[in-house]
Order: sequence, then structure tokens, then C-alpha cells
Amino acid sequence: MASATRTISSAAGGPCRPHERLALNSPDVYAARRTGKPSRDRTHLYLASTTVCPWRVFEFGANAHRFHTYRSQRPDQHLIPSIQSGGFIMNTSQKVVVVTGASQGIGAELVKAFRKLDYRVVATARSVSPSDDPNIVTIAGDIADPATARRVISEGVARFGRIDTLVNNAGIFIAKPFTNYTAEDFAAMTGVNVGGFFYITQLAIAEMEKNASGHVVNITTSLTDHAVDGIPSVLASLTKGGLNAATKSLAIEYSKKGIRANAVSPGIIKSPMHPQETHATLDAMHPMGHMGEMSDIVNAVLYLDAAPFVTGEILHVDGGQSAGH
Ligand SMILES: NC(=O)c1ccc[n+]([C@@H]2O[C@H](COP(=O)([O-])OP(=O)(O)OC[C@H]3O[C@@H](n4cnc5c(N)ncnc54)[C@H](OP(=O)(O)O)[C@@H]3O)[C@@H](O)[C@H]2O)c1
Repeated sequence: MASATRTISSAAGGPCRPHERLALNSPDVYAARRTGKPSRDRTHLYLASTTVCPWRVFEFGANAHRFHTYRSQRPDQHLIPSIQSGGFIMNTSQKVVVVTGASQGIGAELVKAFRKLDYRVVATARSVSPSDDPNIVTIAGDIADPATARRVISEGVARFGRIDTLVNNAGIFIAKPFTNYTAEDFAAMTGVNVGGFFYITQLAIAEMEKNASGHVVNITTSLTDHAVDGIPSVLASLTKGGLNAATKSLAIEYSKKGIRANAVSPGIIKSPMHPQETHATLDAMHPMGHMGEMSDIVNAVLYLDAAPFVTGEILHVDGGQSAGH
């Protein structure tokens, strides 16, 4: 919907402040105040005392003359309409998370959990459905394709103004004896598990750097720590093991820049990946005697997201698998 976005900064070049008078390119601006009464000035926007920065201007094109003030459940969130430019100024203080692999399973549960915490969510997968929730934007695409990553991050920033957290959850698992893997298997698993991490994480971190704040969580697998006789999984170890190592590298590279990187390493989880009839066998593969629930992984991600002193952690949520047998 938004055709362009530009950020307002103060006359001094720093972040905008309450009560500040900001020059705008658009000639006619209405500033919504908490009282609900807009103030008008032909060349400037007067920030209300309730203003929370940063703000961004969303321009919907020259022919958009609709005027309305948007109020969400939180009183500090307003869209401030600008009639002649057809634009809106949006409060971007609400946190934004990007979830890949969000069409089903753990990813879909992550979307629900982050919304309960009032995050805005950018959800992507090949078959993700549009949402009625204005705080969820869905982008359909193959995460192995760099163009999908570009669309996800650019649309997320255009709609919500920032990226705080990226959960690299999209992943595939092909179990085959090593010599039976085909070139297509290799391309598929490296494409989704590694390419799907690489392209979008580069773009997300570039956005996080603008705010000197952010968090990347990679969903890996405990198989990388303990190969299991009878479950041939070299490509899972190659790709998800690479993600575990990359998690630590990212954590160190960005440790002084306010950006954290962690991983959640699941055991076998009751998601659509595993048909019901396999559960009894899979239960027995955990020292605790049962598979994990999707909520176990979701809770681990939420813990890491709320743990400002934790970075470079590979958090095993695996019923004891990685500890021993
Ligand atoms: N369940 C487990 O036992 C288990 C164990 C260890 C690790 N994990 C990891 O946990 C994560 C989530 O697994 P899950 O159990 O929720 O799996 P799932 O139910 O199979 O969901 C996988 C998600 O990834 C998306 N996806 C797959 N290929 C994609 C592609 N090319 N482009 C974009 N999205 C793609 C799927 O959406 P579309 O098909 O719509 O694209 C789906 O939303 C994965 O990284 C998985 O490796 C799971």
C-alpha cells in the first residue's frame, strides 16, 4: 500500500523530540494530538507532548485524499494524516518481529505468541495466508530466494517502521543415507536452511543497526550435537550445524552494537512435520520419554527475546537429547 517512506529527524539532525517543530516537504499537515484535535500548519509539524519517536511518514500517493485519525488500543499510537500529500505519520515505537516459516507449525505458533505480546509481526512462508489483523503483514515467497528476503524486510519497514527481532524458523529436513542424497536434496536443504537464514538476516541486521538494537533467533536442531543411529541426517547437521556456528559468530560480531544472536535447538517436536502415527517411536528417542510441544520452542524464543544479557546461546529444548543417552 505504501509507495514511499521517509523518516523525520529533528532540525539538528538527531531524533525528533516532543514539542519539536519539524519542517516537512508536504505543504499541508494535520498533526493529531492526544486530545483528538488536530493542529494545522502549512509547512511544519508540531509534535505533541505525547509523541514517541521515531516517526516515519508513509506516503500513499498524490491522489489519496482520505482523512482519518487512527487510534489503536495503545494511546500513544496515532497515524497523523497529511491531506495534500495523501500521507500519514505513524508512531513506530511498537516492537516488530519477522517470523519465517510462519504458515504452519512452530512458525504459526510464534506469530500468535508475539501478537499476544503486542508485537507487530511480519510473517512469511510460501503458502502463508493474508491476515485480517492490521498488526500482521504476510509476505508469500520462497525464503531461499533473495528477492523474498528483500520483500519481507522492505515491506516490514514500510508498514511498521522498524525490525526488532528476526526468527529464522523456516526449515526442511530430508533424512536419507548419505550416498542417496541427490543434488536437488542438497540444493533444497542448503537453499532453505542456509540461504533462508543468510539473505534475510543480512537485511534485518542492517535495519537493526539503524536503531543499535535487535535480536536474531535461529531454530536449529539437537541432531547436530548427537547424531542418531538409524536417522541419517548429514544434511541437517551440515546446514543447522552451520547455523549454530553462525549464531555464535553473529553474537560476537554484533556484541557491542546492541544486536544479539541466539539459537533454539529443538528435539523432536509435535508439529505437522511428524504424522501422529510416528509419535510413539519419536517419544522414545528422548531421555525424558516424550516429544516436545510447539509451545516449548515458542517459550524458548520468547525467553531469549526478553533476555538482554544472553547472546551466542544455543538453547537446547530437547528433552535431554543433547545431554546424553
Ligand atoms: N518439528 C521438529 O521435530 C523439529 C525438530 C528440530 C528442528 N525443527 C525446526 O523447527 C523449524 C520449524 O519446524 P516445524 O516443525 O514447524 O516444521 P513445519 O511444520 O514443516 O513448518 C515449516 C515451515 O517452513 C516453511 N518453509 C518450508 N520451505 C520453505 C521455503 N522454501 N520458503 C519459505 N518457507 C518455507 C513452511 O511453509 P511453506 O510450506 O508454506 O513455505 C512452514 O511454514 C524448522 O526450522 C525445523 O527444521 C523442527
